[in-house]
Amino acid sequence: MSERIRVAVVFGGRSSEHAISCVSAGSVLRALDRERYDVVPIGLTLDGRWVLESDDPERLRIANGKLPEVDATGASLVLAGDPTRHDLEVHAPGDMPRTLSGVDVVFPVLHGPYGEDGTIQGLLEMAGIPYVGSGVLASAAAMDKGAMKALFAHAGLEQAPYVVITDRDWRRDRMTALARVESLGLPVFVKPARAGSSLGITKVKDLEHLVAAIEEARTHDPRVVVEASVEGVREIECGVLVDADGDPQASVCAEIVVHGAHEFYDFEAKYLDDAADLVVPADLETAVSERVRELSIRAFEALGCEGLARCDFFVTSDGRVLVNEVNTMPGFTSISMFPQVWAATGVDYPTLVDRLVADALRRGTGLR
Ligand SMILES: Nc1ncnc2c1ncn2[C@@H]1O[C@H](COP(=O)(O)OP(=O)(O)O)[C@@H](O)[C@H]1O
Ligand SMILES: [Mg+2]
Repeated sequence: MSERIRVAVVFGGRSSEHAISCVSAGSVLRALDRERYDVVPIGLTLDGRWVLESDDPERLRIANGKLPEVDATGASLVLAGDPTRHDLEVHAPGDMPRTLSGVDVVFPVLHGPYGEDGTIQGLLEMAGIPYVGSGVLASAAAMDKGAMKALFAHAGLEQAPYVVITDRDWRRDRMTALARVESLGLPVFVKPARAGSSLGITKVKDLEHLVAAIEEARTHDPRVVVEASVEGVREIECGVLVDADGDPQASVCAEIVVHGAHEFYDFEAKYLDDAADLVVPADLETAVSERVRELSIRAFEALGCEGLARCDFFVTSDGRVLVNEVNTMPGFTSISMFPQVWAATGVDYPTLVDRLVADALRRGTGLR
């Protein structure tokens, strides 16, 4: 048994996606084969404390409509940034501190800020502990819609025209910022640069609502991205997973079909029941789905992603494919889009988890 790989699964965290991260982690814990892996579940509380959680995936389900949350009563943990150690100090109230040594690999099942954005990746690079998924730069770039779009443009990927309004732009010369937005035409989508789950996003159809929409986005992030609305589009997503050599492969495509009252794929449509359907595989002409798959790999490479990503596109009625965004740690519950598109491509959930852990160990840390 000493040959088992010690995997720390990190979940929860200081983000609006805390609960969904817990549900994703529950699925990962359930899938990790205990014959091969020695699993250490690490919860990050809503205020950012690190705690040793019980290895009980059942606790991380949505039960009776109640969302799971990290249990803050567990022993507190310290991960040192010292690359000669690879261990966790465990501080349980009333006990002597003890050491959990030899963490081989970390699986950060974290969505959004303080997890999917390069921060924990930086900590793990300092500590020299391999981890699943993208490194510091790709994680940070994919979290920031301004940086992400600049890299997509540099790679020649077609996307909706956009402008970035920094905090300084808005405070110093609002008129110029608004004039830049007006050049996009209407409608536009106003978005916080670094949020997620559609939080703080408004579709603006007339100029009199523009300032309020920018102020709303600024309550989430002082940096705002405004982009031209692509009207009448289908929303198509594709999973990217690297193979045993680290080369990215694309899954079949899926479509999100939003119903009725929701004008776009907003927060309620994402998290309330029956507001949207996931269609896997998407009903697309072969030429279009091949184009989406090819662009998924190009988007993955434009940001320098590693391990996995979900690439999201808008497909117009005349078959043009525009990149919308890349998520470096997509929803990972067993019913989330990413596992579903891979299941439809022939890679089941436990295999997905195995491949990601193997890829992290193969890559290691440092320049690569
Ligand atoms: N330029 C656009 N044209 C049309 N719809 C858009 C555009 N930008 C965003 N949307 C709609 O808003 C949703 C959320 O935007 P997105 O940029 O994906 O934010 P998030 O990172 O929060 O998921 C999209 O899924 C889509 O429904
Ligand atoms: Mg999105």
